[in-house]
Amino acid sequence: MRLPIALAAACMLSACQPPSTSGPPLESAPATVAPASGTDAGLIAHGEYIVRIGGCNDCHTADYMPRGGDVPKDAWLTGSPLGYHGPWGTTYATNLRLTVDGLSETEWLDYTGKLHTRPIMPDFVLRQMREADRRAIYHFIRSLGRAGEPSRPALPPGETPPPPYFQLVEPVAATE
Ligand code: HEC
Repeated sequence: MRLPIALAAACMLSACQPPSTSGPPLESAPATVAPASGTDAGLIAHGEYIVRIGGCNDCHTADYMPRGGDVPKDAWLTGSPLGYHGPWGTTYATNLRLTVDGLSETEWLDYTGKLHTRPIMPDFVLRQMREADRRAIYHFIRSLGRAGEPSRPALPPGETPPPPYFQLVEPVAATE
């Protein structure tokens, strides 16, 4: 399914509130395990760069956008409870720390090279990304270690999700 270019996003509850300084610190994610072996610092640093500029945290890290990226790395990519509700149902950005933990490098490269998901994940970005960059992402995420809980399961079309969620609606063109 193609995402409409013009999306009207309706804010539900905390999704669009200004960054909060109260509440539990994001560092409170469960403890991490040791980095994967066989990686080098340059590869991991490159993976971090791709993750930063590739926008993965924007969705896969809770509160990354409202905090302007000011989220400790410990909490990066552990998924988000913010739903994306549209004609495809409701999807949640997954916990990539767990995804990567369950895959070998070869499995990750095969998986992400052919990735097809529902919106709002830009799966085409991963399909078009050079293998070397996807490999670097893998090793960067592995270096962060396993953390967090699995994301909420996606909901089918027509089911209203619990907040917080973004509602994505394609405006109907005016007829005159
Ligand atoms: C605009 C929000 C958004 C951005 C940006 C984004 N994702 Fe996702 N991603 C999602 C959502 C939502 C899903 C769940 C899709 C579904 O349920 O079908 C997802 C699913 C995935 C999946 C498949 C599920 C899994 O854990 O195996 C992978 C892999 C993934 N994203 C990796 C990435 C990487 C790497 C980046 C950065 C290059 C990225 N995503 C950027 C929102 C996003």
